[in-house]
Order: sequence, then structure tokens, then C-alpha cells
Amino acid sequence: MLTVARIAELRAVLQGWRREGARIAFVPTMGNLHAGHMSLLAAARFRAERVVASVFVNPLQFGPNEDFDRYPRTPVEDAQLLQEARCDLLFLPTVDEMYPEGRDQATRVLVRELSETLCGAVRPGHFEGVATVVAKLFGIVQPDVAVFGEKDFQQFTIIQRMTQDLSIPVEVVGAATVRATDGLALSSRNRYLSSEERAVAPVVHAALAEAVRRIDTGDDNWSAIEHAGHTTLTDAGLRPDYFAVRDAHTLATPSAQSRDLVVLAAARMGRTRLIDNLRVTRR
Ligand code: PAF
Repeated sequence: MLTVARIAELRAVLQGWRREGARIAFVPTMGNLHAGHMSLLAAARFRAERVVASVFVNPLQFGPNEDFDRYPRTPVEDAQLLQEARCDLLFLPTVDEMYPEGRDQATRVLVRELSETLCGAVRPGHFEGVATVVAKLFGIVQPDVAVFGEKDFQQFTIIQRMTQDLSIPVEVVGAATVRATDGLALSSRNRYLSSEERAVAPVVHAALAEAVRRIDTGDDNWSAIEHAGHTTLTDAGLRPDYFAVRDAHTLATPSAQSRDLVVLAAARMGRTRLIDNLRVTRR
């Protein structure tokens, strides 16, 4: 696996691969890789001859009181895992390489509405930071296909929409959430959990699964389902930001026509913020 830190170096390598006719898949990450990321790499490997991954903790998507400084950075372990996943090229830029004019000066990409609800309502500017860095990474790598985890379902929806709105010629693919055996969705931030918190954390998945069960039986009282989920999380000692049933395409409250739904939750536990979701098709 090649590792490059400069955009110009990356472009030179990719040019050679494109001349050989290789299809290029891209997996953007913030590092601290785990089995969830490995499933993204496997999906990428399946879809292309060459796989590029990036590791970049993007300051634009962190609020002033969020965990940018303490976000886990494990470059040696990440490189080892990417090598094992048969990644061809690791792009490891610095903040200066990505935002040479300074992060406050950078051109921003904003996907309206989709960015303002759910996590966007409690993390102002977060999705603008995500859309901006992903648009920039797409411009740098120009992949044929890019793979994102469906655990961050709102992020995935926003990136799909941005790609469509800006006519970026990349196929955006979602990969299913990878879970621990007790249901907890894998996340780099799970390492912030104490052992007591880790034991309780699967309640998020359990509450979502119960909501899906209700919808499956024909229940369409969204506010009652949301209230029940909220209560389950609060009773377990979590502080929910939201527990919401939404249309999976618009992220709005389901209309009478909505069939493809998603139940999403975000809740704080100690200093950790857990997010998760489950899809469900309404009969
Ligand atoms: O999901 C992530 O790890 C990040 O939000 C992403 C897509 C790599 C952008 O920084």
C-alpha cells in the first residue's frame, strides 16, 4: 500500500491507474479504524480494481465544544488494517494541505434542509463541514464509486443528495452497519464508554428494534413510537437528542405515501454521543 500526504502525489498515482483502465473506489474515513470500516473497504474492493482510503480528522465538522482534539488518532494501527484490507493507496493529508487558505476561509458546501434536522439541529455546522470535506475529497480523488457507512444515515443521505445536486460523477454506495453481538453499532467513539456505560449502550439498538417491530405490525402513530423510544433511553440513564421515525429519502416525518422509513436515535451517555438507526418498509 502506498501512503501519500500531498494532493499532487495522489493525482500522479491515480492518473497512472486510470491510464491502465482501472476502476477506482474510495473510502473516506477519520481513522481509528474498526470492523465497521473494514466492511466499507470490503465493499470498495468488490466494486473496483483499485481502492483508495483517506484518513483525515476534518476540523470543519466539529463544533467548538466537541471532541476534535481528543478524537482518537491511531495512524500506525490504521495503516496496518488498511494494508490487511488490501487497500492500494492511503491518503493522509494535513489540515494545511486540505485547507491551505485556512479552515475559516474555505469554500463551504451546504445541503439545505437535510442538514438542519436531527443531528444537524444539535450540531450546527456539522453537516456543512462533512459536505465540504467530502466534496473536496471527491474533487481530489475523482473516484468511480465511494462507500459510506449507513450507521451515519443522515450523513449518507446528505452525501447522496450533494452528489446529485452538484452533478458529481461518482456512485455513492451505502454499507450496512456492523454491530457487536449485543447490537451496539461499532463506532470510533465507543472507546469513550466506561465499562458500565458499555454494558447499557445496546439499549439504543434495542429501542430502535422495538420501534421497527411496532411499525411492522402496522402501527403508524409516529409520535407514540417516538415517545416510547425516548422513554426507554431516558429510563436507561441516557440523554436522548432525538428518537425519530422519518421517511428514509427526505428525512421528513413520514407522509401517508412514505413506505421506506428509518428510525433514528442519538443519545448522550456520559461524555459519549451514540447514534444509530434501523430501516423499515411500511406495508
Ligand atoms: O464518517 C466519517 O468518518 C466522516 O464524517 C467523513 C465522511 C470521513 C468526512 O470527514
